[in-house]
Amino acid sequence: MTATILRRATAADQPAITALIRQAGLNPLGLDWRRFIVADADGRVVGTGQVKLHGDGAREMASIAVTPGRQGAGIGGAIVATIISLTPAPLYLYCADHNERYYLPFGFHPLTRAEMPRSLCRIYWIGNTLLHVIAFVTGKPRRLVVMGYGVDAA
Ligand SMILES: CC(C)(COP(=O)(O)OP(=O)(O)OC[C@H]1O[C@@H](n2cnc3c(N)ncnc32)[C@H](O)[C@@H]1OP(=O)(O)O)[C@@H](O)C(=O)NCCC(=O)NCCS
Repeated sequence: MTATILRRATAADQPAITALIRQAGLNPLGLDWRRFIVADADGRVVGTGQVKLHGDGAREMASIAVTPGRQGAGIGGAIVATIISLTPAPLYLYCADHNERYYLPFGFHPLTRAEMPRSLCRIYWIGNTLLHVIAFVTGKPRRLVVMGYGVDAA
């Protein structure tokens, strides 16, 4: 197995970032390389993460993904820990309910609507409305969860 390093993305990483996020089935919008940290294994992007700054000042960690053949080796955890260490609190994220447990050990906890910043509350509302419609069609219930880190200290 080759050594993996974390580094800030460059413009040359844009196609690999876009491809990995699409492969992971995550939100394909807002993938500007300038906001990204990537995991690089011998010049190949094998993991991604970014922080989006919303109009109301909320910082959202997003696009956390690791290429399937590299999962389970601590790359996702290293990306999350690095983003937390580089970003002033509070830091928010939204995820599908089946991913909620992944973020708990880092100190994220699920937020009530009252605790969500306005920008994330809007995404939460739109996302869950869409998932409700999809669940009606597919019979597979899914839910978006908004989580926060360092929210109490804000
Ligand atoms: C979620 C993801 C980023 C984790 O990356 P990773 O490099 O495999 O994670 P790590 O190696 O740091 O951590 C692995 C640990 O997390 C656990 N884990 C992975 N996905 C999890 C989930 N959805 N819920 C709970 N735990 C999870 C593993 O079981 C493993 O536990 P262990 O260390 O006790 O064995 C990766 O599985 C992935 O890219 N998934 C598809 C995209 C996605 O869903 N991203 C999250 C968007 S919110």
